[in-house]
Amino acid sequence: MSVLPILTLGDPRLRLRGEPVESFGKLLHHLIDDLTDTMRHAPGVGLAAPQLGEALDVAVVEVGDRLLELVNPRIVRAEGDDRDLEGCLSIPGFVAYVTRREHVWVVAQNRLGRKYKVAGSGLLGRALQHELDHLQGKLYIDYLASPDELIPVGRGGDEDEDADAVDAELERRGIDPERAKAVSRG
Ligand code: NI
Repeated sequence: MSVLPILTLGDPRLRLRGEPVESFGKLLHHLIDDLTDTMRHAPGVGLAAPQLGEALDVAVVEVGDRLLELVNPRIVRAEGDDRDLEGCLSIPGFVAYVTRREHVWVVAQNRLGRKYKVAGSGLLGRALQHELDHLQGKLYIDYLASPDELIPVGRGGDEDEDADAVDAELERRGIDPERAKAVSRG
């Protein structure tokens, strides 16, 4: 189990579709453990295999104290719309408003191949949709009409010289800087 480097925007492997998983053995278990360790280290609320350079239909999502291992996940039902700030561990330093479905129901398998169903709304629903998009080679910026919609939030830490300018820009847009930094990332 390891914390691995997360691929960032521009790496073509982020655009690969995850191949269906057919073998539920040690290799899959190692990948799920690496995804979990790397997600928690970031920290983030989700991480998909393509972000570690593995074109497989595998992701993890952790909201609250519930860790979901998502193997071959599919959205089977969706309702409503919800617009909120969203970020991605593969696109550090930015967030944007993205409209997602408000409630989703996902069918997936766990590391042993056992099928289960999970329903999510709010942060969990958004994280599920974000990670499943990664498995299609899709990033949240694909939903934006223009790069101008990207909102810089800085990379955190006191070493960020532009932190005051970033906060001023967020406030100009009516966004609480603390909330922008705490937004869901996966
Ligand atoms: Ni992401």
